[in-house]
Amino acid sequence: MRPPPRRALIAIVATVVVLAPLAFFWQRSLVPNDLSPMQMGYADHGGGPAATHQHHATGTDVRQLTGPATGKPAVAVELVARKERFDIPGRGQTDGYTLNHTSPGPRIVARQGDLVEITLRNENIPEGITLHWHGVDVPNAEDGVAGVTQDAVRPGGSHVYRFVAEDAGTYWYHSHQVSHEQVRKGLYGVLVIQPTPADVVAAVHTYDKVRTVNGEYGERRVKAPGPVTRVRVINTDNGPMAIWVDGAPYQVLAVDGTDINAPTQVENKAILVTAGGRIDLEVPTRQAVRIGLGGGPTTLVIGDGDAPSGPEPGERVDLLTYGTPKPLGLDPAKATRSFRYEIGRRPGFFDGKPGLWWTINGHQFPDVPMFMVNEGEVVRMTIKNGSGQVHPMHLHGHHVVVLSRNGVPASGSPWWTDSLNVEDKETYEVAFVADNPGIWVDHCHNLPHAAEGLITHLMYNGVTTGFRLGGAADNQPE
Ligand code: C2O
Ligand code: CU
Repeated sequence: MRPPPRRALIAIVATVVVLAPLAFFWQRSLVPNDLSPMQMGYADHGGGPAATHQHHATGTDVRQLTGPATGKPAVAVELVARKERFDIPGRGQTDGYTLNHTSPGPRIVARQGDLVEITLRNENIPEGITLHWHGVDVPNAEDGVAGVTQDAVRPGGSHVYRFVAEDAGTYWYHSHQVSHEQVRKGLYGVLVIQPTPADVVAAVHTYDKVRTVNGEYGERRVKAPGPVTRVRVINTDNGPMAIWVDGAPYQVLAVDGTDINAPTQVENKAILVTAGGRIDLEVPTRQAVRIGLGGGPTTLVIGDGDAPSGPEPGERVDLLTYGTPKPLGLDPAKATRSFRYEIGRRPGFFDGKPGLWWTINGHQFPDVPMFMVNEGEVVRMTIKNGSGQVHPMHLHGHHVVVLSRNGVPASGSPWWTDSLNVEDKETYEVAFVADNPGIWVDHCHNLPHAAEGLITHLMYNGVTTGFRLGGAADNQPE
């Protein structure tokens, strides 16, 4: 054979020079398909001491961190998950996922202190499923994150969750296996833990561009349960939603399941409900009122007769200043760890795919910081967003209190949250007590973002997990 001409040689060399680094970055971005959450990324001790006790063999396995194993549940529900077609009243048929043949699934209502037992069965969802109790600080083994606290439940399989409904409030549940797909297509429901029954639920969900309230499309009506109604609004979508009340002033009673201290009357303002978040309003309902849900045709009218309707008010309630301060029950000055959760974005590969990908402290999933804590510590975290998009940040198993936004200290009621809307260029400082041992994911609740790697976890020293991301159970929490 004749040697290749010089020009061809140059072309080959040039191709290799360009492709070799590309191949290197591509290869390096591949996410292993069998990965322990304990070994991904790197340990971040937040300026505190590293583990004092041993990590592996001798630790507490997450499977031991269960709710009460014995005792008769006050609320016992069996949920059968299916892949099937279902009806959106007011709109028509859609393909997706149901629980007991409906989406949203059955509304679970418990009284504070009740033992709740949910038996989840997977009839025919090929990818497997789990259920996560969004906003309820359950014991770790009940948290329902595939690959972290359990294996995904395969078709024909089942899983029992048991926990005590300790804190009254508005919550919701959803799958945490391939959640960016499964939640969007309907695998979610409402969980209310109540002290008083005079309430109305407005769970908002968008099925394939169709925004619904309690699974129904268009103007929907409910009876007023009394002269004053607590309206529990739940945003189960991926983006923030402004809500407001046409026809009456209102108060903001609670955020993410925690009551506001001394709420004041609000008139002509909207309030933002973070993706994943909940806002409870108190609304006078002697006359019909309309709850505006992000604009568009779907609204909820409480009471009979005509309810006024209007556009979204221009002003918004700011939770940084709303209500009246009271002691937090923790001293942020005594924090022993302070973490940074800085969200960025950069071009490159993620799992072999080129694109613009999220980073946490400059690292890309799975090479992200694992936030390491000891039980009992006070922890601060600074969440900074420089990524060009809004991120609703959600830490499992804990509620955090907002200390400041963009350096401005919180001056209203303590703002306890589990789903915090962090806009581009915003910085929030939050604090919490590490009082619930386990391995807890901490992710963006715009679920496609989480699936694109905007997820890491808080890990208690001394807790171990045998569950794996990927692996034989094919766990894919996001
Ligand atoms: Cu609504 Cu990781 O959760
Ligand atoms: Cu996000």
